Amino acid sequence: MSQLFRRKNYSETDTSTHLLRVLGVWDIVFFGIAAIIGAGSFSSLGEAVFRGGPGVILLYMICGFACGFTALCYAEFASRIPAAGSAYTYAYASFGELIAWVIGWALIMEYSFGNIYVAFSWSDYFTSFLGRLGMHIPDYLTCSYTEAKKAFMSGSENRELINAWKTAPLMGSLKFIVDIPALVINGLITWLCYIGVKESKNFNNSLVILKLAVIILVILIGFSYINTDNWTPVSVETGISSFMPNGFAGVMSAVSGVFFAYIGFDALSVLSEETKDPQKTLPKGMIISLVLCTVIYIALTLVLTGMVDYRKFDGVGDPLSFIFEKSNANVAWMELTVSFVAIVAITTVLLVFQMGQPRIWYAMSRDGLMPQKFQEVHPKYKTPAFATIITGVVVGLPILFTDKSFILDFTSIGTIFAFVLVCAGVLLLPAKEKIKGRFHLPYINGKIIFPVIFIGGLVAFYFWEPAFFQNLMKWDDPKEGEFRASIFFFILINLVICILAFIKNLSLIPLIGLSSCLYLLTGMSHENWFWFGIWFSIGLVIYFSYGYRNSKLSKS
Ligand code: ALA
Repeated sequence: MSQLFRRKNYSETDTSTHLLRVLGVWDIVFFGIAAIIGAGSFSSLGEAVFRGGPGVILLYMICGFACGFTALCYAEFASRIPAAGSAYTYAYASFGELIAWVIGWALIMEYSFGNIYVAFSWSDYFTSFLGRLGMHIPDYLTCSYTEAKKAFMSGSENRELINAWKTAPLMGSLKFIVDIPALVINGLITWLCYIGVKESKNFNNSLVILKLAVIILVILIGFSYINTDNWTPVSVETGISSFMPNGFAGVMSAVSGVFFAYIGFDALSVLSEETKDPQKTLPKGMIISLVLCTVIYIALTLVLTGMVDYRKFDGVGDPLSFIFEKSNANVAWMELTVSFVAIVAITTVLLVFQMGQPRIWYAMSRDGLMPQKFQEVHPKYKTPAFATIITGVVVGLPILFTDKSFILDFTSIGTIFAFVLVCAGVLLLPAKEKIKGRFHLPYINGKIIFPVIFIGGLVAFYFWEPAFFQNLMKWDDPKEGEFRASIFFFILINLVICILAFIKNLSLIPLIGLSSCLYLLTGMSHENWFWFGIWFSIGLVIYFSYGYRNSKLSKS
């Protein structure tokens, strides 16, 4: 049993990297925005607004808060294990091998599956850009089979998807519907990673400025088209107007789309050895980039939901140009500009993640948990060649048979799960000596404060909304049942955490990170948990049949 939790002792490994400390706060902020702002803001925002209505703004605040605290936990780990910067490595040092494997397995959902969504979004903007230039690719070659089928079956109003289903040629009894641009961009990015494209700070900074400029333009121009009535839409069924037309459960059901927009800040933790005065610079840079992104997302949501009724965003993959379409604000030059910049912005995110995945596998293979082949470095390009190609396949194949919303949920549940383990991992770390120049998560004893915040919050909420608690056990309600069940388990787990915090004097910052990430998981549907469970089980089977036996730690 103890073998399952054997830990890798990184102090025995040489983690000094001899890198130059050149990055300041604003460099970190720029890197952060480069990795964070992409398909989430340009694409999944549409689906989030459709599910939650204007009230989805609250969810952007909640996610920003949870990610801020998680970012501090990442910074703490990064300062202790500076040479290898992924949650997988951190878990190996704190929880031991089994959980490290589980995180490594979950990170495939963040990096590879996340990129499937990003590739789909790239395709949405690419095809709409071509369309605006007068070039039309048949609809059945620009969307996924399952998405078109779902839209047709549910009677969606999305014209492109319905058209794709109706016009697709038959291959035997199967309709030929494939997202070709998504496949092509995945092939191109895989090739760039294979030959070892170099990231350049200046190029990166110009792209970030371009991204920010266009988003600010959308906000400024969109502002003058806002009709404030759209912020409190009237429900067709009840006739009641509300900021949260689908209730708070509806807002929480948008968690995948909203959370996805924040993914990427965790990639910053690897920069600790290249950062000047990392103790202050790294957390400052991470928090500034998260605050900036949160403000941007809130402003964008206000503009989107103010310009167009939230119900029109059903199946819209390019919401930021959609709002300027003829049937909406009708600003043709903005439609074109936004589509073009989105293509560039989304490509940079694709690159960051497609480069990250092989490096995680490389680390896992070095530890013996993945086959040796994943460590193979290309003799000429010096890139993890085999792992890069496998990443391309893992991203490319599901493009053929999955759809955007499934992949979005799957990516978000896996990533939040990894964040939960990172926050919990920090709680397990032994106290360390303060080393000058290194980041230290300030220790605030959570013994009393955490239970007071949690239980106090619960009591306050009870007095504010007693009906919610009276109905908490009614899980068969078609609209709110799943959410209530999740909240019930959330409360239960947090009460256990309160007890542990009290007994063990746990540190407050990771406790808040842990609890807020657990809260985000309450927005996941049972279907998401089902698929996550299957993925998790496959991971365990692979670990026990391969990693457990081949681990370097079992040989030492
Ligand atoms: N946050 C990244 C994006 O939105 C993953 O594309």
